[in-house]
Amino acid sequence: MATVISSAARLRVPRPSRGARDLIARAASSSSNPGDGGESGDEGAYVVVFRGKEIRAKPGQRLRTALLLGGESPHNGGANAINCRGLGTCGTCAVEIVPSGAVTPRDWTDAERIRLNFPPHGPPGNSRLRLSCQVRLGGDCEVVKRDKFWGQGDDVLGPRRDDETEGMTTPPLGALEFLLDGDEWREGGALGTGLGLRRSGRSDDGER
Ligand code: FES
Repeated sequence: MATVISSAARLRVPRPSRGARDLIARAASSSSNPGDGGESGDEGAYVVVFRGKEIRAKPGQRLRTALLLGGESPHNGGANAINCRGLGTCGTCAVEIVPSGAVTPRDWTDAERIRLNFPPHGPPGNSRLRLSCQVRLGGDCEVVKRDKFWGQGDDVLGPRRDDETEGMTTPPLGALEFLLDGDEWREGGALGTGLGLRRSGRSDDGER
């Protein structure tokens, strides 16, 4: 009898890289031992590994916001300037999250279901994607970004080159990047960072 393999099973499911596991373990160790060099105020922060870089993020923070405030970007190239700023309609912030359970909600939001089924995203590759503007952090994770404008390519992007600065430290619209992230505005986080540069971690467990 022929074996039926679902489209989801045929996908190459990303696994945490060894480098990401090392970064997460090291960050966890330094947080639990504040006297050995860990950043003060980072207790309770989650570790997000993106393109080989370690970013500290608040529990419950939107992933797109965490990446931008950490000096990174879930957008590729021109999409750093041309995107919907978290509305969930452009699809350029699509990423893979490993483990998938590190964010909430666990399942696609309505916005994700619509946008991730709209070209260039679509089955079967879309099943591994999340829109980073639609999910909130619930644990340490590695975030995988693929190439091309919408992140719809086949190649996983590695650590940035020294001369690859686009979208890294100065989001084009500064604090307006977070206009649609109500939490960030309420807490003064986006406003407090001026042009959206990295801010220090804060211990605010149980905030949400
Ligand atoms: S920023 Fe446009 S869909 Fe996330």
